[in-house]
Amino acid sequence: MNAVPEAGFGLALIGCGGFGAYVLEAVRDIPGLRVVACADADRDRAAALAARHGATVCTSVEEAIALPGVDVVALATPPAAHAEGALTALRAGKHVFCEKPVAVTLEDAARVKEEADRSSGLVVVDHVLRYNPILRLLQRLGAEGLLDPLRRFAFENDASDEDLGPDHWFWDPARSGGIHIEHGVHFFDAASALMGSDPVEVQGTAVRRDGGPVDIVVATATHPGGAVATHTHSFTHAHRAERQLMRLDHGFAEARVTGWIPTFATVTAWTDEAGAARWEGLPERAGDLLAVPGLRPHGQERITVSVTRDVGSDSPASGRGVRRVVPHRVDCVIDLGGEARKPHIYGESVRAAMTDLLHCAALGGTPVADARAGLAAVAVAEAATRSAQTGRTLPVVIPSLAAGGGSR
Ligand SMILES: NC(=O)c1ccc[n+]([C@@H]2O[C@H](COP(=O)([O-])OP(=O)(O)OC[C@H]3O[C@@H](n4cnc5c(N)ncnc54)[C@H](O)[C@@H]3O)[C@@H](O)[C@H]2O)c1
Repeated sequence: MNAVPEAGFGLALIGCGGFGAYVLEAVRDIPGLRVVACADADRDRAAALAARHGATVCTSVEEAIALPGVDVVALATPPAAHAEGALTALRAGKHVFCEKPVAVTLEDAARVKEEADRSSGLVVVDHVLRYNPILRLLQRLGAEGLLDPLRRFAFENDASDEDLGPDHWFWDPARSGGIHIEHGVHFFDAASALMGSDPVEVQGTAVRRDGGPVDIVVATATHPGGAVATHTHSFTHAHRAERQLMRLDHGFAEARVTGWIPTFATVTAWTDEAGAARWEGLPERAGDLLAVPGLRPHGQERITVSVTRDVGSDSPASGRGVRRVVPHRVDCVIDLGGEARKPHIYGESVRAAMTDLLHCAALGGTPVADARAGLAAVAVAEAATRSAQTGRTLPVVIPSLAAGGGSR
């Protein structure tokens, strides 16, 4: 199905809860996309959302894909239903926009990846961080050699449980997969993208609230080449007390990224005169460095750079065996507008993920957050969950890649 249908791509949403409605709002004005159907096991929910979008009401994936003009299926059911929905849609040759996680078990994630390999339909998994301008910029600075390879990735997530009542599916591992799978996949995937590799082993810890469900989890994932990522998620906070920090250790440089949807970051770096000049050239390249196809900037994004020259000694400095003459200190701020702009960046990242899917469906290519990325993230998350249960460090095995390499 590598072509644009005459009437544009027809979209069917499956799962019309809070996030399904959000996804439709985020993607509804993508040129060449039409909302055709809204499906939910709860027909009244589907009807309410369908009325808003002028769409047909359905109650299942099967019913939705049988409608004429459905080319893309967006899955926003609770996680345990994602894999079956994706398999059904892919077998019918439909493209799939799958909410994360792609599946709640490794076996099911592998089945989706295998079906995606066979199908004419493509898969994008809504790992929104893959479409975030700050993380794109950091990857670009790495590719340009301004940042050395990542040695440590540390994500601290003080998340809110304020809207997660005791009966919410989030707390039920059978329906959500648990915190590492339901939410952690975003950051396992982001860490792999920034590291340029999948982890080889992982150690997990789970902490149970007194008499209740697991609400704090930690994972330490070792990447090849002497790099390590730590992931901490604590769903124990009021909304107003939510805070997140992603700290990235690039050796001579450090990045601090705030917000789970990154909206602000600082980078400090030690460099020489040639490096200083390159850093100083970043602000005028801000548009290109922060560009993500399908994500519309709000216009107030800024990169500012200040270099303090000769603040360090001009004799060689050394860390982990790397010796450099780097007397200048760079302070770089990447500002997408902070928390106030989070709704914009979040919605636009979802729009960018859908744009990626449609672009590849029309012109060929592989989406950034494809089924392979979804599978790899579930593999790490599942191993971290089992490690916490068994108390053992476990290898990360990505099924269909077992014979191949682990780089990405
Ligand atoms: N990418 C992100 O940043 C992000 C953010 C929030 C939620 N999510 C994901 O979005 C998904 C939906 O979350 P939510 O908060 O909207 O959940 P929700 O419980 O509010 O809505 C889920 C809806 O799916 C329906 N449903 C359940 N099983 C179904 C089935 N088999 N067929 C059809 N409909 C079915 C339910 O009736 C409900 O209306 C989850 O997978 C969640 O992890 C992603």
